[in-house]
Amino acid sequence: MGMKPKYLYVHTIGCQMNVNDSDRIRSGLQSLHYQAALSMDTADLIILNTCAIRAKAQQKAFSFLGRTARLKRNNPDLIIGVGGCVAQQEGESILKQMPHLDFVFGTHAIGRLARIVDRIETDRCRIVDTDLSAGIDEPEAETTPVADENPTRFVTIMRGCDNFCSYCVVPYVRGRETSRHPRHILQEIRRLVAGGVREVTLLGQNVNSYGQKEALPTFAELLSEINAVEGLLRIRFTTSHPKDLSENLMDAFGRLEKLCRHIHLPVQSGSDRILKRMNRKYTRKEYLQKVDRLRRICPGIAITSDIIVGFPGETDTEFQKTLSIIREVEFDNIFAFSYSDRPSAPAAELPGKINEKQKNERLQAVLSEQEAITLRKNQTLVGSTVEIMVDGFSKKQNGANGSGSHVDFQWTGRTTTNKIVNFLFSADGLKIRQNHTGRLLGVRIEKALPHSLWGHAAGPESGSQGLKGEKSHAA
Ligand code: 5AD
Ligand code: SF4
Repeated sequence: MGMKPKYLYVHTIGCQMNVNDSDRIRSGLQSLHYQAALSMDTADLIILNTCAIRAKAQQKAFSFLGRTARLKRNNPDLIIGVGGCVAQQEGESILKQMPHLDFVFGTHAIGRLARIVDRIETDRCRIVDTDLSAGIDEPEAETTPVADENPTRFVTIMRGCDNFCSYCVVPYVRGRETSRHPRHILQEIRRLVAGGVREVTLLGQNVNSYGQKEALPTFAELLSEINAVEGLLRIRFTTSHPKDLSENLMDAFGRLEKLCRHIHLPVQSGSDRILKRMNRKYTRKEYLQKVDRLRRICPGIAITSDIIVGFPGETDTEFQKTLSIIREVEFDNIFAFSYSDRPSAPAAELPGKINEKQKNERLQAVLSEQEAITLRKNQTLVGSTVEIMVDGFSKKQNGANGSGSHVDFQWTGRTTTNKIVNFLFSADGLKIRQNHTGRLLGVRIEKALPHSLWGHAAGPESGSQGLKGEKSHAA
């Protein structure tokens, strides 16, 4: 009786936008009755969601696809599809290169995915859909399932990018900037909160210009509305472009109690000449002024950045300016990348390419500069009690200590400033199985590590629910 169950396996490479798109892929295929496969080997449908931001990510996609050829030989009924930014960029040529693949779908085709897969199931044809013109399906009707236990979620508020930074493929593979209507965003957030979500991260390539093209409310206004959603405890957003960071938006950090005290504000380079060649449209000085204002409005705000080293023509003096802006701002953390040539991005045509060895040396210099700053900042928290939201068990839950069956469960959470805190409950009054995820809790910090903090819950029930999202004491 009934049909044989079908299993879907989605593998994601890349940024949070892709993670969010993979959720849309899964929920978009619910109408075809796929269940989640535990591994790629047991799947009837494999979908790879790809990233094209750097050459390495793209290579990862092709090597994953290469590995699926064996599965297709063993099971000719297996359907394999490729989506995301590499799919958008390469289109049909992927099917030509890899005969075992069934379909390629671009970044705007997720809403059409069920129809694509349905057709392949019945006709066993091969399909390419990289249409960017049809607009983006409003995911309002989606039934995004709320994952058990996970109190945090991404919510896409805009897609695409109009900034055309000279190194970047995003405008080409994600299309023009489009903002979702606040009504749809709020609907989605309310539904998530009803399902147990307590923290949302609003996603867009440049959330600071939210709604401008469509004459919708500004991003600051959207934040105010989200701040009023009952039951939601924390709001984060990413990513911000410094040129569009308005005073109004900066002021939101002083005004909205649920808005976490962290901003990811990629500076990319500390040299004005390089910033100009990157088409970033701000100067080092303007960037530093915004940092000053943010810190005045919201003392203790965490500021993180992306950095690119070895941009074409970057001299040693210019690279030193990047090191010095890292020291001057004292970022809480950075993501640093070696410049990677992207054929569709204009910087690929610029002279003065830096060789791999030199790029690597610059990358290491930037990373070690930052590591010392991060560790120093983490150390200042030792001895204080910070408020965290409990995300769940820490991955390496261990008790060790040789204390027999008495398990020290390790939990994990994040401060409002987005620092990871691993901690134990010391009071044995607290039952281990009690569900703490999604709660705000005070944790006393005992140890600072380069990438996390470690401590003990400050006391049973401390911090507790606090719907007001009280500020952490970690300034
Ligand atoms: N090479 C290296 N890094 C890049 N990024 C974007 N494009 C490139 C590229 N071609 C980095 C930027 C951006 C982050 C998401 O990836 O720092 O902020
Ligand atoms: Fe790429 Fe610049 Fe757009 Fe960010 S703002 S996605 S770096 S073009």
